[in-house]
Amino acid sequence: MKTPVTRRDLLWRLIASGGGSLLVPPDGRAEDASSWQSRFDASTAPWKSAFATPAADFPLTEVSVRGRFPDAVAGTLYRIGPAGHDLGGERYHHWFDGDGMAHRFVIAGAAVHHQGRYVATAKRVAEVKAGRRLTQGFGTVFKGRPEPGSPDSMNAANTSLLSVGGDLLALWEGGSATRLDPLTLETRGLKTWRADLAGAPFSAHPRVEADGTIWNFGVDAHRGMLLLYEIGPGGVLRRAEALSISDMPMVHDFAVTAGHLVFLLPPLVYDGRRRSAGASMLDAYVWRPELGMRALVLDKKDCRRQQMFHLPPGFLFHLGNAWEQETTSGAVIHLDYARACDASSVLEDTREVMRAQLSGRAGPSLTVVNLHLRSGKASQVDLGIEAEFPRIDPRRTGLRHRQVIHATKTHGGLPMWNGVACTNVETGATQGFSYGPHVIVEEHVWVPGGRDTGWVIGTILDHAQNKTVLSCFAADALADGPVAQATLPYALPLGLHGMFVPAQG
Ligand SMILES: [Fe+2]
Repeated sequence: MKTPVTRRDLLWRLIASGGGSLLVPPDGRAEDASSWQSRFDASTAPWKSAFATPAADFPLTEVSVRGRFPDAVAGTLYRIGPAGHDLGGERYHHWFDGDGMAHRFVIAGAAVHHQGRYVATAKRVAEVKAGRRLTQGFGTVFKGRPEPGSPDSMNAANTSLLSVGGDLLALWEGGSATRLDPLTLETRGLKTWRADLAGAPFSAHPRVEADGTIWNFGVDAHRGMLLLYEIGPGGVLRRAEALSISDMPMVHDFAVTAGHLVFLLPPLVYDGRRRSAGASMLDAYVWRPELGMRALVLDKKDCRRQQMFHLPPGFLFHLGNAWEQETTSGAVIHLDYARACDASSVLEDTREVMRAQLSGRAGPSLTVVNLHLRSGKASQVDLGIEAEFPRIDPRRTGLRHRQVIHATKTHGGLPMWNGVACTNVETGATQGFSYGPHVIVEEHVWVPGGRDTGWVIGTILDHAQNKTVLSCFAADALADGPVAQATLPYALPLGLHGMFVPAQG
């Protein structure tokens, strides 16, 4: 599939001038970095290691295992997240700023090994060599630092992972994917999908269909552009498109159906004037609830065929899945997402944990949406179940699904979540497992195979033991507790996302 010359030119111009949106005057709005470091260091919060900075990589280590991991989960769970929060006595002001560290949990029955390695981004290599931060992060502007020259000069490679074409890609949503060696986690360099797309934003939540087709997007907020990618199973780019979006919001995730791409556009809108005045990338976004939540539906075959729906205002990071159904009143797209009433999670909560403070706010709630393509009407129902990191059986991507695995909260007064649950988004029925009050739950993923409903694997930080634990559950019996657990001899900082890759043969 060839992209027209005019569109390629547009993409090239978009990328070639990509650094402009990141220019920040050296005397721009900045906060005293040392106070964040000292407040974090002085905190006695029992969960503080969740946001600590490992001094070095974690070499491959055999892990203590209780029980036996089922054959269906033999393989590698890759995970990644912000880990390099502190450097040279300065601490980032937002969880999402930290240099990415990739992990692999190699699972083989009663044997589990762990390895963790910082992604050697150009930014991290230069800053570690200098012993100090040289530029800004997504939510932090340090005083008197040179402007970042391009999005990739502040690329933290810290958000998610994608296994494709022999690479493990470390994803960040503001710039390029970073290629890692899947066996050693060694950094290979930036991924360029096509020469004219070098440096283009490639977001952290690609959707992989059952046939291996990969869909993804990227946001250039300053220009109000949404990039779309279609990639073949072997990692060859089939198509890239650029669309103009009015009131460009923060978009972290999207969904695909058999025929459409679906974006929820929360009313957290980029204001380039704030950026020009010295705000961080995060602080350039403005909460404008009067815009409501828009739902943009694009035809996969021709992205110029678009339909916009309107929902009440809300904010989200993640969708579970979307699928479409023919009905007597026309096609309906069903989707589910983790909906918050406002954007305080990204604007405040994920900032305050960096100085070991809790907001105490309730988390997002699992919410289902119907988009009626013929009438243009949209409706949504809040299932009333606190949920984040929704994941489905990967074989159901874009198809009808019923069950969503997600983190959930069973105890108040703690950051993040401490339970894992499986909720039927058609009935609202939910079953889950509470790890207890001394635990922070990370994303759990669904691993098909071995039984009808498959398995669920995921990590937690047990801050009573100060250790990270990998657990495996039967997907249809979470409440029965883990069938196997592997306890690391150390605590890892909280990560964001991961993916499971089965063992060969
Ligand atoms: Fe995410």
